[in-house]
Amino acid sequence: MIPIRTNKTFFPVLYAFEDWYCKAVEIGAIKVLKPIVVVTSHFIEGVETRIEREYEVRRSKNGAPFKSEELLAAAEGADAMLVTLADRMDAEFFKRLSASVKVIATYSVGFDHIDLRAAAERKIAIAYTPGVETDAVADLAMLLLLGASRRAYEAQELVRSGAWKSSGTTTLLGWQPTGKVLGIFGMGHIGQAVARRARGFGMKIHYYNPIRIPEETVGDAVFHADPLDLLRVSAFLSLNAPDSKETHHFLTAKTIQLLPPGAIVVNTARGGLIVDEELIVALQSGHVAAAGLDVYEGEPKLHPGYLALKNTFLLPHIGSATVETRTAMGMLALDNIDAVLNGTAAPSLVTPHTD
Ligand code: DGY
Repeated sequence: MIPIRTNKTFFPVLYAFEDWYCKAVEIGAIKVLKPIVVVTSHFIEGVETRIEREYEVRRSKNGAPFKSEELLAAAEGADAMLVTLADRMDAEFFKRLSASVKVIATYSVGFDHIDLRAAAERKIAIAYTPGVETDAVADLAMLLLLGASRRAYEAQELVRSGAWKSSGTTTLLGWQPTGKVLGIFGMGHIGQAVARRARGFGMKIHYYNPIRIPEETVGDAVFHADPLDLLRVSAFLSLNAPDSKETHHFLTAKTIQLLPPGAIVVNTARGGLIVDEELIVALQSGHVAAAGLDVYEGEPKLHPGYLALKNTFLLPHIGSATVETRTAMGMLALDNIDAVLNGTAAPSLVTPHTD
């Protein structure tokens, strides 16, 4: 409660006052005002403990996700908000958001669900959770790459259905990453972490990024200034870019055609990078041999065409879902809220608070 104590020998009266103050708080005679934070989800234990300890918390009444109107109402008089990818905050939302809100921390590295310009106009700080998710998401990209290329869905089905009677010499033949080109679309921290892992599987790394990354950082990875050139060489393709004006619907029938026949496509970034119907057609024809997907446009709904195919390895957006990463994300989000409310330097803001 009092982080640093006064020296008892030099300031005995002040020391005694601190003692009295702590006792008074303990027995409830003095109520310490905590910042009011709207929290739209429930988090891993350590993060929940800190939330309940440090803030006056507002959550939805029945535990169901807030509707936009309810979220605006809950934010009246609140100091901060802790939100997730599921909370879409557009220009209209920011127009109507309570002036009391100084910071919104999203529990995600992506922030395409938040209209940053509208937030900046209202001088509301937006915080996100970069860095702490890198390894977990890159691990998952490799799981998808291997799951898709080694036909893990069909293999699981064979075992679990009891249909596995004998191991034929040509049963469930997949495609090996060794010596193949992995094209990485978006060479940020996660793209680079995918590259490090893929090298361990003997893959050659090519990438597209809006800015070329220095060789000290990406080693011998081959840079393509034009993303279409990257597609032409990518026997395996990993999408690691944010969903933005420039990248939205990057994979269409036309761009998919540029991939070598039998390519494997992996997406741990955002569903909006792909035109689903057109990837599904390519998966049906075999031009794309298999896809490993963790994210979908309009999730949690996904295009039913993916479910009907055997050459898809599908996960429910669990890129950051490890105990370690989800704890670190929560703590980072709260560190950002605390810093903005205390007027100190926040660790990871997208849009600074400029009051
Ligand atoms: C995020 O946090 O934005 C990622 O999608 C996690 O998988």
